[in-house]
Amino acid sequence: MASETLREARKYEEMTQAQITREERPAFHLSPRVGWMNDPNGFSYYQGMYHMFYQYHPYSAYWGPMHWGHAVSRDLLHWEYLPAALAPDMPYDKDGCFSGSAVTLPDGSQMLLYTGVIHEPQPDGSFREIQTQCIAIGDGRDYEKLPGNPVLTEDSLPEGGSRYDFRDPKVWLAQDGCYYCVAGNCTAGKDGQILLYSSRDGLHWQYENTLVKNNGRFGRMWECPDFFELDGAWVLLTSPQDMLPRGFEYHNGNGTLCLIGSYDGEHHIFTEKTDQAIDYGIDFYAPQTVLAPDGRRIMIGWMQNWDTCNMRSQPKKWFGQMSLPRELSVRDGRLYQWPVRELELLRCNKVEYHGVKVTDGIVRLEGVSGRRVDLELEIGAAGHPDIYRKFAIRFAQDEEHHTAVSFRPHESILKIDRKFSGSRRAIIHQRRSLVSHDAGRLRLRVILDRFSVEIFVGDGEQVLTATVDTPQQAEGISFYADGDVVLDVVKYDIEA
Ligand code: FRU
Repeated sequence: MASETLREARKYEEMTQAQITREERPAFHLSPRVGWMNDPNGFSYYQGMYHMFYQYHPYSAYWGPMHWGHAVSRDLLHWEYLPAALAPDMPYDKDGCFSGSAVTLPDGSQMLLYTGVIHEPQPDGSFREIQTQCIAIGDGRDYEKLPGNPVLTEDSLPEGGSRYDFRDPKVWLAQDGCYYCVAGNCTAGKDGQILLYSSRDGLHWQYENTLVKNNGRFGRMWECPDFFELDGAWVLLTSPQDMLPRGFEYHNGNGTLCLIGSYDGEHHIFTEKTDQAIDYGIDFYAPQTVLAPDGRRIMIGWMQNWDTCNMRSQPKKWFGQMSLPRELSVRDGRLYQWPVRELELLRCNKVEYHGVKVTDGIVRLEGVSGRRVDLELEIGAAGHPDIYRKFAIRFAQDEEHHTAVSFRPHESILKIDRKFSGSRRAIIHQRRSLVSHDAGRLRLRVILDRFSVEIFVGDGEQVLTATVDTPQQAEGISFYADGDVVLDVVKYDIEA
């Protein structure tokens, strides 16, 4: 039986969702049914559908006591809302149902493993969050919290592990028939670490090992871990808070981190070999993956950044969106991402240009415009020894607005810049990334939805993601070169 708190949330979202029209939402990126959304949770394939739950505050477009919103999809691009799945309604989660994940149990039910939060009063009158891991079991629509909750508490922490930062369990069923989960935690000194737990039945859990320790390298607390095997390697994804920049790889604030290495599953030891950012744009955090029935490892992230999301230009009816679902692969110790192939089925109105010359100025191409667009670009240097100095594509453009992606081959720097997107806030509007290219030749795939851009570099060895809050009438696209560029453009509209 749903609690009063959950029934209220379900009633509220049902009554108010009609206030948001289709045109006010992204067309093929998931947005909250009403109110606020952050992290993807419980991304899973269950009873023939993809399920996506999300950190959810239905009652306002701001973060608040966390519920779990719920949506299902067959193609990862068209989502149907289901009633909210969890509400903060028990003594052990009364201040929030934080992030977590989902797995199917042997009896065919679906288990959600999430973080329960309660505020504990401190001697000085302030409050601190105590975080434990809890379970709810259901049928893909309604979930019952386990009477034995919480299932993982401070008693299950390794020595020195903080009970204030112990969250975001990601669960999976392993080939040895056991369930495992990784959770974010930090030491008393606020240094991130990822803990590994195991369970025979999914309900009773024990600590196995600390998979990775930050040792002061990448920010402080590590949130929202995921851990899986891919293309013969083992991949650990996490989102560190309080990062410091390192070259063009990591930037200040909330970031993303991918560690690739090997895993000794018998002794539960992960050996890291390489590290990289997951996304090089402005808005991407807390991604989670699912293993699709056809074997693809698909990742979706929260298309926002904590550091900028409370600084808004205008009030909104909803806030927060998910990134495109991305197929992952590992090649030569590097994570590659590519938009799910299902997106190709939504492409229409193909327009194609080959060998367009852009020389010291701007070029617009007939039929190349729009705000729901999939654009493939092959940027090349003209055949003489002087490589061009700069190439840029501008989009979401009218007289007042544009957002630009520019490339300077002499510095190998690709930059996203949304300072003319209409934002009236002093937040981050630019980010630069080092990319590899062949003497100025570079391939980009640029995907625009109403409120976002995602730029896939080359074969997907880098992605730059950003929200773009520009009025929808601004749908111009143009190309600029300083020097001589030869350009191939294939453009599709996306009809969702
Ligand atoms: C990450 C995060 C998680 C937490 C959730 C709370 O964005 O801070 O660590 O579970 O958001 O909404």
